[in-house]
Amino acid sequence: MSRLEQRAVFQALPDPAFRLDRQGTVLDSNAAAEAAWPGASLKGLRIQDSRLPALGGQLPDAFERVLAQRIVVTIEHESLVAGRPAHHEFRLAPLPGEELLLLIRDVTECRQSDKALRESDAQFRVVTQNITDAFWIRSPDMREVRYVSPAFEKIWGRPASFLYGNPHLWADFIVPEDREYVVRTFSGLTGDARTLDVEYRIARPDGEIRWVRVRGFQVRDARDELVCHTGIVTDVTERKLAQAELDAAHKQLMDASRRAGMAEIATNVLHNVGNILNSVTVSAGLVRGALRTSRAQGLKRAVQMLDDHADRLGEFLLGDEKGRMLPGYLRDISLALRQEQEEMITELEQLGRGIDHIRQVVTMQQSYAGRAGVVTAVRINDLVEDAVRINGQKLERDQVSVVRELASLPKARLDRARVLQVLVNLIGNASEALRTSPPEARRITVRAEEGAGRRVRLSVQDEGEGISAVNLTRIFAHGFTTRKHGHGFGLHSCAQAAAEMNGTLTVHSDGPGHGATFTLELPLEPIETLT
Ligand SMILES: Nc1ncnc2c1ncn2[C@@H]1O[C@H](COP(=O)(O)OP(=O)(O)OP(=O)(O)O)[C@@H](O)[C@H]1O
Ligand SMILES: [Mg+2]
Repeated sequence: MSRLEQRAVFQALPDPAFRLDRQGTVLDSNAAAEAAWPGASLKGLRIQDSRLPALGGQLPDAFERVLAQRIVVTIEHESLVAGRPAHHEFRLAPLPGEELLLLIRDVTECRQSDKALRESDAQFRVVTQNITDAFWIRSPDMREVRYVSPAFEKIWGRPASFLYGNPHLWADFIVPEDREYVVRTFSGLTGDARTLDVEYRIARPDGEIRWVRVRGFQVRDARDELVCHTGIVTDVTERKLAQAELDAAHKQLMDASRRAGMAEIATNVLHNVGNILNSVTVSAGLVRGALRTSRAQGLKRAVQMLDDHADRLGEFLLGDEKGRMLPGYLRDISLALRQEQEEMITELEQLGRGIDHIRQVVTMQQSYAGRAGVVTAVRINDLVEDAVRINGQKLERDQVSVVRELASLPKARLDRARVLQVLVNLIGNASEALRTSPPEARRITVRAEEGAGRRVRLSVQDEGEGISAVNLTRIFAHGFTTRKHGHGFGLHSCAQAAAEMNGTLTVHSDGPGHGATFTLELPLEPIETLT
């Protein structure tokens, strides 16, 4: 290359370039140098005395090395330019005649991106080494494992290197029951599925089973080309175990509450059927007694007598002493039989009503188990009478009288069995509360009236033992009783029945010795006005 050509190349270099003598004096500089230091007269300046003081000390040594060994020496220099770090690379090369070529290149950007890369690499390592979640990167066809983070070892109990060499080995670590499903799900990620989220069990070499959750993603570039797959693995063993425990506890609770529910239904049936059985037993006893002492036996004897004298009946009825009395005897018997029959019909009707009520109680309990209550057109005042009659024996035993204050209410649509159940319990309780009262005070008042807002109000009032303020707060609680043979079930089931009819059951008492009033309020759906 001619000197002229060399100079042309020198001038055309994009970075600032200087020709120096061995002391560092600038012999020549190119256009890029002039542009970098505009207005400065560079020629004759010693480069080590220029605005590069830190570098200055290193330069004379470098000049000597370059010229003595005829090598290229590169020095990198960091400085602050306008308050920001700047990096320059100084490249010194030997020229003929003890001269040197100095090229200065600004490498700030390059170094900064190097630094950023190094930092993000370090951060990546810090993150992957410290997060408890493991993650992996696989090739687009999934056949090659490109990266597995250190947490893999903690979860699987096997070194991550296992996977690099044997990319298919991961499936062997899955418990057999889950394997097929998981492998199928993963193969979806190489197809249409861009993400996956799957939980499965793995077996560690020590035999321990762990639950892992894997969230997998396809990684695509700007042109939507699949670059790799990545997955984040979380050890969810503890959550799974806690969930299993929770499920078991929930099931136990369900079983227990179902059993408790069945027990409550059974208690309810026994309690309410028990209330009615008394009156049924009494009616049945009366009918049985009446039949045993029936005058029908006398009729049998008279018929026998007529039979014995069948061949001379006229002579017997007119001439025989017994025969003459027979027609009168038959008339008496027929009258007695008619009376007996009427009494028995009344008792049998009561018996029938009692049995009907038992049937209703049972039906009502079935309605607890899903079926709705049976709502029929009911004459409220008839219900009161039925409730008093069912309690008949108890009222008689406690020598309690019942006063009725019944407004003329319309026939209404009500759940007959439920209302009756409440009234029977309230009257029964009131009767018991009157046991210790003087005979003249043993009185229950049952009221039926129309309340505000189309409601019917039924109340049972007694002048009995009364209720203390503290007991008022728990009187409807299941199992609360002050009676020796009580169950504490009656009022609880009544309050429940009231709620099921969209009604309320409330209690009022001015305290011990001042009696009590229980009031059942129900929505009134009149059907017709009673005349
Ligand atoms: N009219 C009343 N006057 C005073 N106390 C009452 C009255 N009615 C109920 N109680 C009190 O409320 C308690 C609970 O009544 P509840 O009917 O629920 O149960 P119980 O009558 O004791 O037993 P059972 O379950 O057999 O009916 C009674 O033990 C009694 O102390
Ligand atoms: Mg009771």
